Amino acid sequence: MDQGIPLGGRVSGQRLARLLGDWRRRGARQGAADLAARVRMLVLDGQLPAGTRLPAEREIADALPVSRTMVTAALDQLREEGVVASRRGAGSWITLPTGVLGRPLDLPSASRAVIDLARAAPPAVPSLAAAMDAVRLRMPEHLAGHGYHEHGVPELRRLLAERYTARGLPTSPDQIVITSGAQHALALALRLFTGPGDRVLVEQPSYPNALDAIRSMSAIPVPVPLAPDGWDLAGIAAALRQAAPRVAYLVLDFQNPTGLRLDAQGRTRLGELLRRARTPAIIDETLVDLDLDGDPADAPPPMAAFADELVVTLGSASKSHWGGMRIGWIRARPDVVHRLVSTRTSIDLGTAVFEQLLMAELLVDPEPALRERRAELAAQREVLIDSLAEHCPRWTFRRPAGGLGLWCELDAPVSTQIAVVAQSHGIRLAPGGRFAAQGGLERWLRLPYSLPADVLREAARRLGSVASLVAGSATAMDGDLAVPVA
Ligand SMILES: Cc1ncc(COP(=O)(O)O)c(C=O)c1O
Repeated sequence: MDQGIPLGGRVSGQRLARLLGDWRRRGARQGAADLAARVRMLVLDGQLPAGTRLPAEREIADALPVSRTMVTAALDQLREEGVVASRRGAGSWITLPTGVLGRPLDLPSASRAVIDLARAAPPAVPSLAAAMDAVRLRMPEHLAGHGYHEHGVPELRRLLAERYTARGLPTSPDQIVITSGAQHALALALRLFTGPGDRVLVEQPSYPNALDAIRSMSAIPVPVPLAPDGWDLAGIAAALRQAAPRVAYLVLDFQNPTGLRLDAQGRTRLGELLRRARTPAIIDETLVDLDLDGDPADAPPPMAAFADELVVTLGSASKSHWGGMRIGWIRARPDVVHRLVSTRTSIDLGTAVFEQLLMAELLVDPEPALRERRAELAAQREVLIDSLAEHCPRWTFRRPAGGLGLWCELDAPVSTQIAVVAQSHGIRLAPGGRFAAQGGLERWLRLPYSLPADVLREAARRLGSVASLVAGSATAMDGDLAVPVA
């Protein structure tokens, strides 16, 4: 059959090499098979979308670098599998592999809607609507001004500073910069600390968009595996010594994706390690308000309270109130704030005033909305746990004390396969590999409980079908999908 030549984007040899990462698993003789397996993994994982045009064989060979014969053999294999198509004069491009999607379930029409479990993001808190009305009335006093606030609107900076102070970290408003979400805050902080080739210590697993932000600086994430019950501080100490990272990026409160939290004792020790290595740390507190079991009054103080001179703290309204507001912030020493704002003005000149005032309004009396948020998430967590026990009994997980998702261990290294098959069953998933610095984690899958209970029940039902389907075909793909963990 004549396949149309797609108009998709072209991936350069250099970018392909970066995406492939450490792809060799066996001796040189197996190189082509390893290369093909890793490309297939990137396709299944969505990182090389169907339609992407590949560079010429010579460019791939130069970028990796490997022999041209090896590239030809790998492409031949991928063509045979239907992962790559080529035409003389038009080059090669990615096609969607057939044979792994399975047969779509015959879903009743009411439940056909796609369930997005790739995002762990709850809807807006109900109090947002009233806050919008209140802010609308207050806007005229701002409309008379220029509206540019590189540091953020003073009122919001003050309220956030007070919240840190109340949590045991004395903070003044000049230590706060308002950003457009925590992701923007991270990009700004990374620009301050890292450049091409620098190493950044991260947890493994870690938040995928943070790993992408690190990679987009041409910096290198250095993963320290999380133990099942928390941070391997000896491992962090060794990595600080051996890899000499420029900065660490850590999520110590209801870590995404594991839901783990580092206690005060661990924070004391981590502070000592950072100080000894003189390594600054970007501590992402995006999920800090989602303590589902404990009393927030018993929470450990922010990490900066243990190493203020080295820590830059990121915060966000996205999970506590709503991601659509795009409000985040940075808390740092005043001199760091000054440098951050200088960096910022080449990228943007401030965050939207209306949304900052909205967040300020929500922070005047935040507890009722947060209590409601926590209660709802805790109930949804139980629904997902029960539904998985019914439909996916072979998947195991620790019950997280907070955050937005379950980090499930599967019964085989089939996370990407599950994610691919799930698409044709109306479920979007982020497979385990997305949370890895350099591939791997194929035994793991993050399942958020940020959706309503009835949707979670339906999701678990569909996942049960997906799991059975994949279990039936697992032998064909197991070996090739198990990418080495660095
Ligand atoms: C750990 C972590 N950091 C940052 C973000 C992004 O937050 P924002 O929407 O504020 O950019 C998320 C969102 O899931 C997250 O889980």
